[in-house]
Amino acid sequence: MNSLILFLPCAAGVEVYLAYEILQILGASAQDLRTMRGGVQLKAAWRDALLLNLHSRLAQRVLIQLQDQPYSSEQDIYNAGQMVAWELWFGVDKSFKVDITAQHSPLKSLNFATLRVKDAIADRFRERLGERPNVETFKPDVRIHAHLTAERVILYLDTSGEPLFKRGWRFEKGDAPLKETLAAAMLAASGWSMPVLKEGTSQALTPETQSGVEQGIPLYDPCCGSGTIVIEAAQIACQMASGLHRRFGFERLRPFESRLWSELKEIAKANECAPRAEVFGSDISHRMVDFAEQNAAKAAVAGVAHFRAGDALQRMPPVEGGGVLMLNPPYGERIETAGVAGARQHASTEDGGEFFVQLAAHLKGNYANWTAWILTPDMKLSSKMRLKENRRIPMWNGPIECRLFRYEIKKGRMVDAG
Ligand SMILES: C[S@@+](CC[C@H](N)C(=O)[O-])C[C@H]1O[C@@H](n2cnc3c(N)ncnc32)[C@H](O)[C@@H]1O
Repeated sequence: MNSLILFLPCAAGVEVYLAYEILQILGASAQDLRTMRGGVQLKAAWRDALLLNLHSRLAQRVLIQLQDQPYSSEQDIYNAGQMVAWELWFGVDKSFKVDITAQHSPLKSLNFATLRVKDAIADRFRERLGERPNVETFKPDVRIHAHLTAERVILYLDTSGEPLFKRGWRFEKGDAPLKETLAAAMLAASGWSMPVLKEGTSQALTPETQSGVEQGIPLYDPCCGSGTIVIEAAQIACQMASGLHRRFGFERLRPFESRLWSELKEIAKANECAPRAEVFGSDISHRMVDFAEQNAAKAAVAGVAHFRAGDALQRMPPVEGGGVLMLNPPYGERIETAGVAGARQHASTEDGGEFFVQLAAHLKGNYANWTAWILTPDMKLSSKMRLKENRRIPMWNGPIECRLFRYEIKKGRMVDAG
């Protein structure tokens, strides 16, 4: 029975891809699926919550909604918290933490509202069981999220624990790594990891449309840093579950049964396959390539993700016949471009302009039949590259608004496919 209401938060703009992903993971057991701003809601079972944690690459967390009430004061929030049967979900031996978010809440202090939720939970335990669980703000066993709108208080139990972008394979971060969830969103939006979706919906453009990976299209990140895009892509190519290498919050909740969890992981492992497409990464920095290789080994894709050191302005395509280039190049002061352009960088422009002029020339000269997807906060990237993009998809890199630009490369020019 699908007795739970689940909410999976995600970055703005990613909702339709997440909805598609949820349908792929759960099939018919995902009911009443609704795409909302910043996440997707559905009705599903406990087992489904575990499956979503294990497989979702786009969700930030998997939350169980336990309360949704109108409120106008802190006392209403306390009452809402008291009504939830928390004792069915965790025991007094588990520490907990309450986090709060709000949109247009009329309350003066969110800290005080958080305290009221915490008191409601502690008081309920004390009244029913004579004892209360401790609060732990650093590494709690159980996380509870309260969300306040202008009129409603919604309480969620977090089944993920650490956010899902932490896949458990990252040894070394490098200087400016992408979040794994953002790398996965880039791969989804490009049509490489899932079919291209109809504008604004979670339906494939046509039912028979295949994703890039299903068509065996190679993928290459020439500024791969710690390897986030390449490692995500390599795992996708092998149909590897994203959550096999980490622990989850649900392991500390009462309904948790290790037998069911082992069974789900076994099924996931049995579903792994030989890589359906080749994936490559390179970076000017040998140190970064080292990190990427260590990360790939920990992510169990050492033989699938192929890394090399090299300058993006000089490296030739890793395979013949075209493919997908996917990168978030160095940007602004955070990272200075190195390599061929690096030497001339400061003499010419301070904004990476020279690097992008040279990158465009290199791609036009050597990457015919490749499609380049470039994520950048620089809205003027196309004019710097003196190229016309044929798609621009809004994406958020944490708080930074970015665009994922698509350029079709033909010999000697980039084509505007309109
Ligand atoms: C924003 S970071 C990419 C981060 C990466 N996506 C990750 O998740 O770790 C940009 C990367 O470009 C690399 N880089 C700078 N100039 C380069 C060049 N000319 N050729 C190749 N890589 C370059 C830097 O070493 C850095 O690792």
